[in-house]
Amino acid sequence: GSYQEPYRNQYHYSAKQNWLNDPNGLIKYDGVYHMFYQYNPQGNEWGNMSWGHATSTDLVHWKEQDVAIPESDENAWVDFWMKTKDDAKPVHYLGRPTTNWDVWNPNGKRYIFSGSVILDKDNVAGFGKNTLIAYYTSTYQVAVRDDDYSKDQLGNLLGIREVQEQNMAYSTDGGKTFKKYNNQNPVIPVTQVPTSDAGNFRDPKVVYDEANKQWVMPVVSGQEVDLFTSTNLKDWTFQSAIKRAHDVGNGVWECPELIPMKVKGTNKTKWVLSLSVQQGAPAGGSGMQYFIGNFDGKKFIPDSDETMKNPQWLDFGEDFYAGVTFGETPGRTIMLGWMSNWNYVGEQKTTPWHGEMTLPRELTLVRDNSGYSLKQAPVKEVNQLSQGETALDVRKIHARAQSEKTIDIKNFSGTQYKVSADFSWKKNQAPNRLGVKLRASEDGSKYVAVGYDPSSKQVYLDRTKDGESITRQNTKVKLDGNPTNIKLAVYVDTSSIEVFVNNGEKVLTQVVYPNPEQPSDSKGLAFFAESGKVTITRAVGEHFESIWG
Ligand code: FRU
Repeated sequence: GSYQEPYRNQYHYSAKQNWLNDPNGLIKYDGVYHMFYQYNPQGNEWGNMSWGHATSTDLVHWKEQDVAIPESDENAWVDFWMKTKDDAKPVHYLGRPTTNWDVWNPNGKRYIFSGSVILDKDNVAGFGKNTLIAYYTSTYQVAVRDDDYSKDQLGNLLGIREVQEQNMAYSTDGGKTFKKYNNQNPVIPVTQVPTSDAGNFRDPKVVYDEANKQWVMPVVSGQEVDLFTSTNLKDWTFQSAIKRAHDVGNGVWECPELIPMKVKGTNKTKWVLSLSVQQGAPAGGSGMQYFIGNFDGKKFIPDSDETMKNPQWLDFGEDFYAGVTFGETPGRTIMLGWMSNWNYVGEQKTTPWHGEMTLPRELTLVRDNSGYSLKQAPVKEVNQLSQGETALDVRKIHARAQSEKTIDIKNFSGTQYKVSADFSWKKNQAPNRLGVKLRASEDGSKYVAVGYDPSSKQVYLDRTKDGESITRQNTKVKLDGNPTNIKLAVYVDTSSIEVFVNNGEKVLTQVVYPNPEQPSDSKGLAFFAESGKVTITRAVGEHFESIWG
């Protein structure tokens, strides 16, 4: 773990070594941003799930800290009856929790799954003023039995089931370490999961509901979101369920969040329900969607019946998942996601680390003719990484019919930079495609293209020609109307590309591993157009410093 490895991102967070996935418990506390995350302290694959921890004073330079919540070493005997959706009658969950299939393994542990952190300013929970309180999902497996036997007489083994429960832990040392509350008994036990889906009940994201002076905790259970509320932070009452009303296959919902946001330019608050869906996102596999409505203290009320039927998507690339926002950043909604996709995460072979975070993004809720939507931009703090603007030497591209014209940029190349490019064209001369080629090889044969196709009105990111061993599809997003110009802000790092289209109206995030035989030969930048004429009204490159120092 030197932060210098060939595909190590230089201005996106990753753990020095080992596996990470979802960001958890993002919060600003005492001038410091805390990022916890799903982490395997022991290996470079998913497992031993714990909360890793990093801190930053500027959202950009992160320093890795010790593991904040290790997988649980507690190994209490569980003993409860539950009828899940698969059972005809209640079954007896009896035995030691374990996270591997050897149920009687005395070293069985409970995994610390995703969740959130809040700041208890007023000592509502009684652990002291300004205590950080974490809510997470405790996950374990346990044998289920057919009868009420004692510990010594175990009855007939019916099988092994996964259990997910919502637990609480608190930190009185500013997030370094957490104590598990109530001998790690859950604050919401699995026996209270409204859907009876014991193995899919997770990812509590607690938020304060100012209007009703209470805390709200959305938790997913399979294909619905259950809302719980509390006034003392310890006792949680089920209030309502939000059902899925659109078809994205059978993927479960994960990492729900209810985000109160001011509509830009007004004083009005709306509630945004954001969700990660494991399957069925626009680019295939995992992705993030959102719905806009109101919250009445008990129920999320979507703006219309159509709202839940037509999800809006936060990102159209393959790699923006499990994003959640920071707490305690008044007036700013800052979201960070895991830059991957459960569909092909196993094919990403970086070592000795696995998994990177996106740039933190500031979200704004805007209203226009077509209704409410979120706009996104990297937080302004990212600008400090810029080493200055270089004007790129490209003004017009005239490409003959059926041919592509490429203009190589001579005075700018690299693997960690931002490129801003505004293109415009006349309707009757519109090219078939136009855009930029990033991470191009010297001979121009390998590259990642980010471009626009005026006939289909799609912005696309083409990762199929960069020589990767994992061949991925094109990802794309359709723009509204019939534009004759487009603005791209593209953040390129050693193994990722984030594209913000038209000031963050649409975003595409993609990990890339160009040219594995010769990664150093993938630094070129070029502009291109095919069959038509385009004017480049602005073209600026900015090299970015490494955050690893
Ligand atoms: C989302 C997720 C969560 C879960 C965590 C486990 O990526 O599957 O639902 O809590 O990862 O690591």
